[in-house]
Amino acid sequence: MKISHLVTEIEGHRSTKLVAFEGDQFVGHVDVYVKGEWASFARLFVREDYRNKGLGSELVETCCTIAKAGGATQIGISIAFCNEQVIPWYAKRGFDKRYEEDGCHCFTRPLPKRSHEQ
Ligand SMILES: CC(C)(COP(=O)(O)OP(=O)(O)OC[C@H]1O[C@@H](n2cnc3c(N)ncnc32)[C@H](O)[C@@H]1OP(=O)(O)O)[C@@H](O)C(=O)NCCC(=O)NCCS
Repeated sequence: MKISHLVTEIEGHRSTKLVAFEGDQFVGHVDVYVKGEWASFARLFVREDYRNKGLGSELVETCCTIAKAGGATQIGISIAFCNEQVIPWYAKRGFDKRYEEDGCHCFTRPLPKRSHEQ
């Protein structure tokens, strides 16, 4: 499995697209955005026949690593009301609900610095 990164920067927003391939087969993707202390990610998707193998978790953890490296202390995700079944999956990965907006549940996870990074 290989995860490719495409990084772009527009008006101070750094965006990284992660695309996962197994050989030449596309199997998953996610986009992560970092601006200042805040990061968010969107469009997390793993191809159905590649689910339950840890790829979704790996993509989210890679987003968190990129966000921390960019200076963020929090990362957020908007979950559409019509996709609520995925909430326990995020809760298990350290995301807590903050508020609801425009038909979405907004969840965040802190990105604590390790003591030697202070
Ligand atoms: C949500 C989604 C990204 C999860 O992707 P995934 O690759 O299946 O995620 P993981 O494999 O990391 O986790 C799934 C389960 O497999 C388990 N798992 C992890 N590694 C595993 C392994 N090596 N072998 C077997 N099971 C494993 C995990 O424990 C997890 O179980 P849990 O939910 O009880 O904790 C995927 O279901 C998806 O693309 N859904 C449709 C799009 C979507 O809803 N995206 C989110 C938008 S907000």
